[in-house]
Amino acid sequence: MTERFTGNFTQQDPIPEEAIAAAVEVMRHGRLHRYNLAGDEAGETALLEQEFAAWVGAKYCLAVASGGYALATALRAVGVGPGDKVLTNAFTLAPVPGAIASVGAEPVFVGVTEALTIDLEDLEAKLAQAKVLMLSHMRGHLCDMDRLMRLCDAAGVTVIEDCAHTMGAAWNGVASGRHGRIGCYSCQTYKHMNSGEGGLLITDDAEVAARAIMLSGSYMLYSRHLAAPAPEVFERVKYETPNISGRMDNLRAAILRPQLRDLDAQVARWNERYHVLEEGLRDTPGLTLVARPEAERYVGSSIQFLLLDWAPEAVQAVLARCAARGVELKWFGGAEPVAFTSRYDSWRYAPEQHLPESDRILAGIIDMRVPLTFSLEDCALIACIIRAEVSAVWQGAA
Ligand SMILES: Cc1ncc(COP(=O)(O)O)c(C=O)c1O
Repeated sequence: MTERFTGNFTQQDPIPEEAIAAAVEVMRHGRLHRYNLAGDEAGETALLEQEFAAWVGAKYCLAVASGGYALATALRAVGVGPGDKVLTNAFTLAPVPGAIASVGAEPVFVGVTEALTIDLEDLEAKLAQAKVLMLSHMRGHLCDMDRLMRLCDAAGVTVIEDCAHTMGAAWNGVASGRHGRIGCYSCQTYKHMNSGEGGLLITDDAEVAARAIMLSGSYMLYSRHLAAPAPEVFERVKYETPNISGRMDNLRAAILRPQLRDLDAQVARWNERYHVLEEGLRDTPGLTLVARPEAERYVGSSIQFLLLDWAPEAVQAVLARCAARGVELKWFGGAEPVAFTSRYDSWRYAPEQHLPESDRILAGIIDMRVPLTFSLEDCALIACIIRAEVSAVWQGAA
């Protein structure tokens, strides 16, 4: 009998009881707006910023409405405007080029390697084209960040890190988000902390932090922040920085604070699941696992493998056979974007660009979510199903 998996790939863990209690408390007092504070109350949002800054080791932190909003704010805060070019990954999700387009700038796409990280040779060749790189650590894969920063520093290119998939990850012991000038995170349901929607921006640059806080819609209430630069920095920027409201509220922050306290333990749970999947898929003929470098501390909240140089019909057959057994795989090589899986050629508001080497890799990328509601046994069964179905199609095609 062929076994079928019956779990749900979009079912995350419930919100912890402590977070539910904190959210109820905020609703009971009714002061949801972050600057609606009673007396010398700090407020959940300011406390979250202070705690996240301490957790990641940054001087300043701003909580906002979404990860995409954090990215656009970061671009504005470093002075990107209409007509500017911004380097970014060819392999990422739509909110990244979308943030670039939202400030009237143009994405210049940099290729992807078989390690699913940005192609540093291609980056080096394109560095002269832009002053800013919006680097997406897509699906949690970190490139050699030491080399990337050397290249960008030498070229005078400012790095903004999109850490939507790397909250809790590090390269050579330095947290993801702490290499570039700004790090941006998402707290949307499928990420490592879940407030439905939400984002965080970190930086050590006082002026960038002050601009970001003004941009997010702080009016002249910036002194209520606990992870912000001194008032004199705001004096320099407050009349020339527009208010583009995108604040986080106290309800979301209340939900996030207990999750932050649990995050390191959650990362360990994700990685246990990742390792079971990885071991179960190892040495499957025709399937290439993505090697994880020694220097990378990753968070296995999703797993990718490559069906490199497979015919599209064969990849489709694998997807259909796995789906029939309850295993939902996403493919970045499909002719049309489906759900989250768009590609650089799907973003037609950007000037047309051709990256043939990346096309070959994108055509083979298979992606799977690993929600924490899956047990280790579930992960072993899923790996077994993928292995069997990839093997069956591979042998049929051989
Ligand atoms: C790679 C990447 N960057 C940025 C974002 C933006 O996050 P949000 O959905 O919070 O705007 C996402 C969200 O899916 C993402 O996957």
